[in-house]
Amino acid sequence: MGFNILPGDKALTLSRYLLKKSVSDLQVEKRPEEDCLKRSLGPVSLISLGIGAIIGTGIFVLTGHAAAEHAGPAIVLSFVLGGIACAFAGLCYTEFAALIPVAGSAYTYAYATLGELVAWIIGWDLIIEYAISASTVAVGWSGYVVSFLKDFGIVLPPQLTSSLGSEIKGAGGAVLSHGVFNLPAFLVVLALSLLLVVGVSESAAFNGVIVIIKLTVIVAFIAIGVGHIDPANWTPFIPAPVVDAKGEPHYGLFGILRGAGVLFFAYIGFDAVSTAAQEAKNPQRDMPLGILGSLFICTILYILVSGILTGIIPYTKLNVPDPIALGVDHIGLQWFSSLVKIGAIAGLTSVMLVSLYGQTRIFYTMSLDGLIPPLFSNLHPRFKTPAVATLLLGVFVGIVAGLAPLDLLGELVSIGTLFAFIVVSAGVLFLRYNQPTLERPFRCPGLPFVPIASILACLALMIGLPGDTWIRLFVWLLLGLAIYFGYGRKHSKLTGKAG
Ligand code: ALA
Repeated sequence: MGFNILPGDKALTLSRYLLKKSVSDLQVEKRPEEDCLKRSLGPVSLISLGIGAIIGTGIFVLTGHAAAEHAGPAIVLSFVLGGIACAFAGLCYTEFAALIPVAGSAYTYAYATLGELVAWIIGWDLIIEYAISASTVAVGWSGYVVSFLKDFGIVLPPQLTSSLGSEIKGAGGAVLSHGVFNLPAFLVVLALSLLLVVGVSESAAFNGVIVIIKLTVIVAFIAIGVGHIDPANWTPFIPAPVVDAKGEPHYGLFGILRGAGVLFFAYIGFDAVSTAAQEAKNPQRDMPLGILGSLFICTILYILVSGILTGIIPYTKLNVPDPIALGVDHIGLQWFSSLVKIGAIAGLTSVMLVSLYGQTRIFYTMSLDGLIPPLFSNLHPRFKTPAVATLLLGVFVGIVAGLAPLDLLGELVSIGTLFAFIVVSAGVLFLRYNQPTLERPFRCPGLPFVPIASILACLALMIGLPGDTWIRLFVWLLLGLAIYFGYGRKHSKLTGKAG
């Protein structure tokens, strides 16, 4: 039954935008065998996929800034807070991923609970979380590669390793020239896209190797670093709050919260496991393991690394782009510093790989629903991957990475992701009360507390982000709505069915 606000044939039927896919339809939705994604991922691959997506720019780059500027040694508490907020959201994601094991993640969950229009908004928003995140990390990757090559006397032209228009300064701080294009960032995205075209199990194997490299580096840092802690560096644990010349507050309890906002980026990625649900061998059992297992492992590692780092070096000295390498230098192990850079480069590579992978799978699902063109769900006859879409995405992500700076992209990714977490948490609540008898292989515990806590925690972190970032999010969502009303609404398979 429609709610018509305009008379006549052209009446705008609001209810069509609220049309939902039924959960049971989603569970059995299948395409002919030759068109299906392959179910090739077991629990270890899924946990590794999660760790691959999570550990990256956050721990290797942002930790130093968050400690030096916001939280001091209490950055450990920032990581605890971020981990708790993500655990609430992770429990909500897990309920959905086990219930509706298809590739679309938050987009599909919204389709089942809040209707097509919200699903579209979330699908569009996820482009920020996945595609723009891959661009962000590519910029961080390029920075580490440039620094690593420099250790061996290889200097790349700075105009071709910096974002468009960024200032390139000389030793004295004078501006020498401006950046043109970040070529390494562009090239790495393209190379990873080609890998994803070849196949998901090949990519998963590659991801597994990278995850082992970065975990080894992080565990080695913990093992070596723990013996070099000077407890004096932890005092005061929560530095007294100060306000700088620009009126910005630092440290104190607010600093811990602000630090948690910055470090939220470090946790993004555990939800990417849910985009692999359609390729999991046993999604009902393995989705909870993949999502919550990877989140748990990373939270523990983050707490240990940040605690040890601030124990080795006074937090005031940590505002550098490669804080962990700096920590190792401080211990006096030059060889290990190069190894840390290799670990960081590997870590960032796997984050990009999983982000690109997740994006293609969300596009795949949206395309099957008719909301974006069929090109995005056409699978390569031999590789069984959405090859053309993957390459197109690679070019787009690569160009954004080539042109834009890291901080602008990073904050956009955080706000977009928090928004998606809020919708997923609201969706869990809604479906529990709307369809209480559905058989759920995994039930988010503590309802309604956990989803509500997740929503509030994400909102708090969003409010901590700058106003410019909010504006960018709104502009992006408006652009998405224009595309929906120009294309998606007319081609939607569900709305078509409704007439
Ligand atoms: N969590 C990912 C990172 O820190 C996005 O790079």
